Parts: sequence; structure tokens; C-alpha cells
Amino acid sequence: MTTIPAGAASRPSAVTSSLSPAILGGPKAVTLDQTEANRWPIITQQDEDAVLRVLRTGELSSGHLPAAMGGYPCPHTEVLALECEFAEYLGLPVMDVGDLLPVFAGKNFRVAPNVLAHNNGTAAIMAGLHALDIAPGDEVIVPSTTWWSSVLTILHVGAIPVFAETDLETLALDPDDVARKVTSKTKAVIVTHLFGIPAKLDQLVRVCKEHDLKLMEDASHAHGATYHNTKIGLIGDVAAFSLQVNKLVPSAEGGLLVAKDPEVILKASRLGHYERLVPLKAIDHPYAKFAATGFGYKYRMSPVSAALARTQLARLDERNKLRNDACIYLSKKLAALGFQTFMSGDKGLENTQRVYFEFLVRYDEARFKVPTKAVAKALQAEGCLVSAPRYPLLHQQPVFTEGEWLKLARLEHDDAAKARTYNPADLPITTAGNGTLIKLPSFPSATRELLDQYAHAFEKVMANLEAIPKA
Ligand SMILES: Cc1ncc(COP(=O)(O)O)c(C=O)c1O
Repeated sequence: MTTIPAGAASRPSAVTSSLSPAILGGPKAVTLDQTEANRWPIITQQDEDAVLRVLRTGELSSGHLPAAMGGYPCPHTEVLALECEFAEYLGLPVMDVGDLLPVFAGKNFRVAPNVLAHNNGTAAIMAGLHALDIAPGDEVIVPSTTWWSSVLTILHVGAIPVFAETDLETLALDPDDVARKVTSKTKAVIVTHLFGIPAKLDQLVRVCKEHDLKLMEDASHAHGATYHNTKIGLIGDVAAFSLQVNKLVPSAEGGLLVAKDPEVILKASRLGHYERLVPLKAIDHPYAKFAATGFGYKYRMSPVSAALARTQLARLDERNKLRNDACIYLSKKLAALGFQTFMSGDKGLENTQRVYFEFLVRYDEARFKVPTKAVAKALQAEGCLVSAPRYPLLHQQPVFTEGEWLKLARLEHDDAAKARTYNPADLPITTAGNGTLIKLPSFPSATRELLDQYAHAFEKVMANLEAIPKA
């Protein structure tokens, strides 16, 4: 493999035939087929068997209480099993159902009081907002750099998203800007551990404690990541994990809500899990009176999805390690070329173990003077599957800039809300930072040869920055 002398990237060398970039007619650096390296989800016989096992029972929705108890719906045992296994994975308690609901003593199945499965991650976020009592007119501080579910859901409890800047070291919320955005109306902060990189939770928790705010972790990208040896999802008041098929625990749609306080899970279950309220009749729980209706949504997870999520969860650590090994191997080479690679242990990421839902690096446009887009284009010409970040900045989207959000939140008659505007020019640090990110594959099963080809592609492009087309 070609090696680049230290400093070559800042003093681009002349184009040589061995280093000639593909965009200028040279040979492509990446020639290996990338289909298998990037295949996701990875479905094995174990997954197929698990799904078939559930399919063949014919019980494809919720379960049912015994006829002697009315035969009412109750949670499906496959879904309860997933909740227990996820609780155990995070280190949360699991108990025998008889210890919670004595009427089920001897039934011999386990429950996880801190985990509630949903039909997707968006529903888990909605239920979390409901359970935290986020109410009309409340302000919730959120990042602009996240998937829309972490933000648009807020509108449906009548609350107002307040965007804060993204921290350039972690790509998550900047705790200092969060502190600046707190007002007397602020009730909560939602932080996304973007791409699997843990946010600065110590500082965020400090701000939340100081102002009596709830903290929701959107952990949809961070299954298995740790922050100061604590699993992501255990630090906020609640956490939501998506199990959508691209995620690190992929399923046929699904989501998991986790809460420190089991009462919060019970509260959350009122919104879209009427079947969870039926068994509460056995202990005269105050929520049992809502069992006939719930609160109007239907959020329970399919047992088929739960079966797949269970087998995928069992492989999570092993598959995270493969991604980590590949992305860290390549990151070290790209860091040497001057890229910011967001590796665990980097500044701002001390004592964290990140995971690689997605693999993005930052190109130093200010130092190298060539536009990021030109670099990405030259890398694509080399055969690299690189692109700009997938998520558009939310504060710049028409739903906010053109005012539709007010209607969705039913705040058209609220003068304070009406006075609020969202401007694409807001969050200059976030916008500039986002513009220099380059997304690579996250390499679930890459070979060293492929990673070396990627490294070679980056080396070629960086050694020829002056020569590549700038448009
Ligand atoms: C950060 C983030 N939050 C929430 C969600 C919503 O999850 P789901 O697609 O399962 O509804 C997703 C994924 O799609 C996500 O990436």
C-alpha cells in the first residue's frame, strides 16, 4: 500500500502515476465488491427458526389471560421475553411475574418492570414524552442533527422544540448551549447519541438537575455503547431505542422504552398499551380503570418482530465488535491524514465506548482549503461509498421555517408560541460542522483488504487536493 509522508496532506504532492486519483483518470482504489461487507441485517438460520416458531403458534398479536380470568388480552410472552433480555443486557432488574402480580404466581414467566416494547422507536419516544408529563406550551431542548422522530413527536404533546447547537467533539447536544437555551418554560431535554457516539451526559445531567428538567436519551443509534462504564440508556430519566432494520439490533420494526422508574413505564403503557392495563385489574391498580380504552394509541410490538429482535440482540456485542474493529482500523489511518474520526478516547470522548451505527468523519476544510464536496466526489470516483450525512438539519426544514409546526402542536392561538420563529441561519456552529462531515459505510463485515483500499483512496485524494476538481 502507498504510504504518505507526514505532512503530505497539508502540502499536496504532484500527481504521480501511482497516486493518480480516479477523478483525474487514474485507477480506482476500491475495486473489491462491497455487497457482503455492507450487508445488513445479517439473517441466519437462528433468526429464521425464531420467526417460524412464533408464526407457527398462530398467536401473532398480543397474548390472552386464561379463560378463568376473562380471556382478555395481555402482553405476548415473546414480547415480554425480549423486554427481559434487553433489561438483562442493560443490567436492569427482571422478576418473576408472580412477584409483581400475585395472581400470576406459579405462571413461571418473567417481566422487566423498566422496559416497554413498542411497535417502533417513534412510538417509544411518544410514550416517553407522555410518561414524563410533557404538556402543551412546555419547551423541550433538542438537537437539529438527529432523525425527525426525536423532535417532531414533541409537537404531538403540544410542546415546543427549542434547538440547541451541536457539540463538535461528540456530534450530540452542546451542554453549554443547552444551558443557554433554558427558560422558565423548559421541561425536558432530548439528546440523541448520534451515530453511536455517547453525548456529554455528565454535563447534560448537571444542567438538567440545576433546572429541574427531565432528560430523555434517544439511544436509537447506540445499542451497547457505554459512558463511564454505564450502558447508554441508563442515565436519562427515560431512553428510547429503535429496532428499525438499519439499527444495531435490527428487527421488522420495533422500539424499546427504558425508564429508571418502573412507575414511568406503567404511565407510558397507558398511551398505547391497553393490554398492559388489563392484568393490573388483579391488583386494583389505579390505571386498571383505563384498560377498556387505553389513551387512544396502539403501540404494542408484534411478537414476530420480538422474536427477530431477540436473536439479533443475542449477537449484538459480537457484531458491534466487528464494526468497531473495522471502523477503528480505518479511523486510525484517516486520523493520520488529518480527519477528525470521533474515536472512543478522543477529546470529549474520554471514558466512552462508542458503537458504529454509522461511521462519519470530519474533513478539515479550514486547513486544507478544498471544499468537502469536492473531496467526497473524488472519493466516490475512487469507488468509496461516501456521502454527506443522511439527516437534513431539522431547524431548516419547512415544517418549522414555514410555521406548520404551530398547527401540529395546536398552538395557533398561543401568542408566545406564535412569536417564535425558526430560521435556517440559526445554529451556525451546527450548520458549519455538518457541512464538513463525510459518511462512510459502517462496515458490518469488511475484510482488511477492503479497508486498506478505502485508506488508499483517502491517501490518494488527500495527496492530490490541489489537482482535484473543486466544483
Ligand atoms: C435517532 C433516531 N430516533 C428515533 C428513530 C425512530 O425509530 P423508528 O424508525 O423505529 O420509529 C430513529 C430511526 O429511525 C432514529 O434514527
